Amino acid sequence: MPTLKTTVDGLSLANPFIIGSGPPGTNLQVILRAFKEGWGGVIAKTVSLDSSKVINVSPRYAKLKSADQKEVIGWENIELISDRPFDKWLEEFKQIKDAYPEGVLIASIMEEYNKDAWCEITERCQDAGVDAFELNFSCPHGLPERKMGAAMGQDPDVLREVCGWVNAVSKIPVWAKMTPNITHIEDPSRASLLGGCEGISAINTIRSVMGVDLETLRPEPMVEGYTTPGGYSSKAVKPIALRMVMEIAQMIRKEFPGRSLSAIGGVETGRDAAQFILLGGDTIQVCTGVMKFGYPMVKQLCEELLEFMEGKGFETLAHFKGHSLDYFTTHAELVRMQAERKEAAKAKLVAKDGDWDGDDFVKQSNDLATN
Ligand SMILES: Cc1cc2nc3c(=O)[nH]c(=O)nc-3n(C[C@H](O)[C@H](O)[C@H](O)COP(=O)(O)O)c2cc1C
Repeated sequence: MPTLKTTVDGLSLANPFIIGSGPPGTNLQVILRAFKEGWGGVIAKTVSLDSSKVINVSPRYAKLKSADQKEVIGWENIELISDRPFDKWLEEFKQIKDAYPEGVLIASIMEEYNKDAWCEITERCQDAGVDAFELNFSCPHGLPERKMGAAMGQDPDVLREVCGWVNAVSKIPVWAKMTPNITHIEDPSRASLLGGCEGISAINTIRSVMGVDLETLRPEPMVEGYTTPGGYSSKAVKPIALRMVMEIAQMIRKEFPGRSLSAIGGVETGRDAAQFILLGGDTIQVCTGVMKFGYPMVKQLCEELLEFMEGKGFETLAHFKGHSLDYFTTHAELVRMQAERKEAAKAKLVAKDGDWDGDDFVKQSNDLATN
């Protein structure tokens, strides 16, 4: 019987499914609910030291639906990090760990480019008893205006320095969460690992504009008649997330064996999760999926992943992690392999009467002759 139990960076998880930072991990009540439903871990909504600077607007979400309007395919948000006081969060971290000591609780933290601020937020969350950190270098809207989030995540030198500050004071595992709004995601990932992080999380949302209302001619989501580009998530981003997870996993395998990778982007089923693990994910995060289907979806995620493992004879996640990474190559190599196969097929001799084909009849006849 296969098992979903896994240990990543010393963290023991009942299953690899972790709530991704966002509304599903936004306060004590919802995090307790997540653990009650059986999620292996929860990454809380990103916190900063001074929540008074965080002011949200509404509406702040916009959905892309299928042609029949029945299915949500893409989701844009212009939501900021947590607007709840940091001291309140610290109390709640303690209460959550008291209630679910075995649940893996990860604090997502973000600060401005200031060493003291990063050290303070790290030490205070750590003292509150969280199990690990995720550094949010990836929020694409609002925060970059304060040189935070994706603004930092696009600068490998800054990343390496900030990761170094956090790792100098952190006694628990640290993951750095990458922005997909960059050409080569390996560069900031490498910088974070060089800065001492145990792992990488990828991806955060993709910078986007959901649409333009053809009546009002205003872009959406509209706030007071205007909008600002937001972050795109949900099912539609899965192919992009898979590609980026694959690129980071290849880099980790080559340059940092043993470091971890937490995959995120559009996961809704156990079969989605299996694909991310085949491309190198150790854990699987879900954010928008929980907003669409609710916390109990974790049971189905686990069942479907176990079903896949049983079907393939995999006993543990380690048995198939990264298995499909070997099947990526360059386009030039695809062309060469295809030409080689076609040549080989052409050269195939007629072994049985059924192999004769009308097009190559003369060649096939000659190939069977000795001169
Ligand atoms: C409404 C909303 C709020 C989010 N807030 C945060 C956040 O505070 N910190 C963070 O690191 N990521 C945040 N994210 C990004 C998600 O954690 C995740 O990286 C992204 O949505 C892709 O995964 P998904 O398709 O499973 O949602 C947010 C996403 C959504 C949809």
